Amino acid sequence: MKRIGVLTSGGDSPGMNAAVRAVVRTAIYSGMEVAGIYRGYSGLMNGEIVDMTLGSVADIIQRGGTILYTARCEEFKTPDGQKQGLERLKQAGIEGLVVIGGDGSFHGAQALHNLGFPTIGVPGTIDNDIPCCDTTIGFDTAVNTAIDAIDKIRDTATSHERTYVVQVMGRNAGDIALYAGLAGGAESILIPEVPYKIEEVIQKLDRGVSRGKKHSIIVVAEGAGNGMEIGQYLSEHTGFDVRVTVLGHIQRGGPPSSTDRILASQLGSHAVNLLREGISGKMAGTQNGVLSAVDFDTVFTTPRKPDERLYGLSSILSI
Ligand code: ADP
Ligand code: F6P
Repeated sequence: MKRIGVLTSGGDSPGMNAAVRAVVRTAIYSGMEVAGIYRGYSGLMNGEIVDMTLGSVADIIQRGGTILYTARCEEFKTPDGQKQGLERLKQAGIEGLVVIGGDGSFHGAQALHNLGFPTIGVPGTIDNDIPCCDTTIGFDTAVNTAIDAIDKIRDTATSHERTYVVQVMGRNAGDIALYAGLAGGAESILIPEVPYKIEEVIQKLDRGVSRGKKHSIIVVAEGAGNGMEIGQYLSEHTGFDVRVTVLGHIQRGGPPSSTDRILASQLGSHAVNLLREGISGKMAGTQNGVLSAVDFDTVFTTPRKPDERLYGLSSILSI
């Protein structure tokens, strides 16, 4: 393989730039050329393809976002869109592709693989919702951002003796809520994977009050309910002074943590090496800290669960 491409797709995540850097530098180190494809599959279909050099990825390891831009592209879900993308890759002389993104982006990579084009996926999403890998690039940074916000909210919650509902991202996964809630000492953590009753949340708040607790923080994963509605319900059905904070896209930005930079560097490099070995249709990840390559089909069909041990621990510690 003489020339490969790299793109970022779906929601951006801190560390994507470090992964792009690792792809470009490993490929050049190995004697290959690298092309960057702008705006995910949308840019691929439009032929937005530029040559990358060692200098193209200088000074980006510490930057959030993605210098290749990212996009969501409905047209690429169609056979015609995929064929157009394949044509663009061939016209640009690209022989293999690294796709950095989430589960949806991997479906696009799988489609190209099924058309006979070599692809490797690198898990990049703050949601940590991809099975068969330890963590996704960006998750650690997003959790730290959420913890930083929860710590600050706790200061004002304490001063005003209030109850705060903090809604975090994660799409259908509760990992950001679970990790940030556990590390931030939340009184309740609501995640989509574990059904809850709002009455039980209220009972827990009441138990805290009877022990002399003056403030509480409830962390809600966006997939577990609407923070505003939960806050409204608590206001109307309890005597607590309730405020709601929706953290939103702040969780997607900022400099990547050292954990994310190192993970991204490892996985970007690993993805290039897999392509060089003639491997395709797989996700480059780590499992129990060891580099791995897992078939997209396995990734798509393996159910993903939150860490039940951590969830149990969070319940014990927030008794
Ligand atoms: P993420 O990769 O973060 O999960 P999305 O689900 O939005 O984000 O997917 C990103 C992009 O991947 C989509 O906009 C589309 O271009 C492509 N994609 C998603 N699903 C498919 C599919 N089934 N077939 C082909 N391409 C897909
Ligand atoms: O997948 C990352 C993510 O930030 C999710 O946590 C969230 O549900 C979604 O993307 C938000 O998407 P958008 O940036 O299109 O609002």
